[in-house]
Amino acid sequence: MTRLPYLSLCAALFAMAPNAALAQDASEETLQLGKQVFLEAAEPQCAICHTLADAGSTAEIGPILDQLKPDAARTANAVRNGVGVMPAYADTLSDEQIVAVAAYVAQASGAN
Ligand code: HEC
Repeated sequence: MTRLPYLSLCAALFAMAPNAALAQDASEETLQLGKQVFLEAAEPQCAICHTLADAGSTAEIGPILDQLKPDAARTANAVRNGVGVMPAYADTLSDEQIVAVAAYVAQASGAN
């Protein structure tokens, strides 16, 4: 028996990986929620530390997101777990809010 069907199944599963689809599939509603989390709901707000032109923020404590262009998976990971002096938000934001802000940052920064 050939191994090809097994390999193409793997490729198909890889292509369907949820993180890869996260930002591209984000609805307008999700992006709006993400922007609201970035500017208001997150405590402390992302905007007090990060520059993101779409959100009108100009802080430079953290990396400039327009330059870093983090994809949704990278952003969600940073928001959930924190990184360096950036706090973790896993206990203060809902999963829906984290997924939304990640999709928003990826889209607004031009990561995809
Ligand atoms: C208190 C300031 C502060 C706040 C608030 C903050 N960040 Fe950060 N953020 C940082 C710093 C500093 C880094 C760089 C950390 C390092 O690399 O050591 C960072 C890194 C990141 C990164 C890059 C992670 C990586 O993989 O390199 C992303 C994306 C990010 N922040 C998004 C966000 C979002 C979205 C929010 C709001 C939910 C947020 N940040 C809130 C300071 C902050």
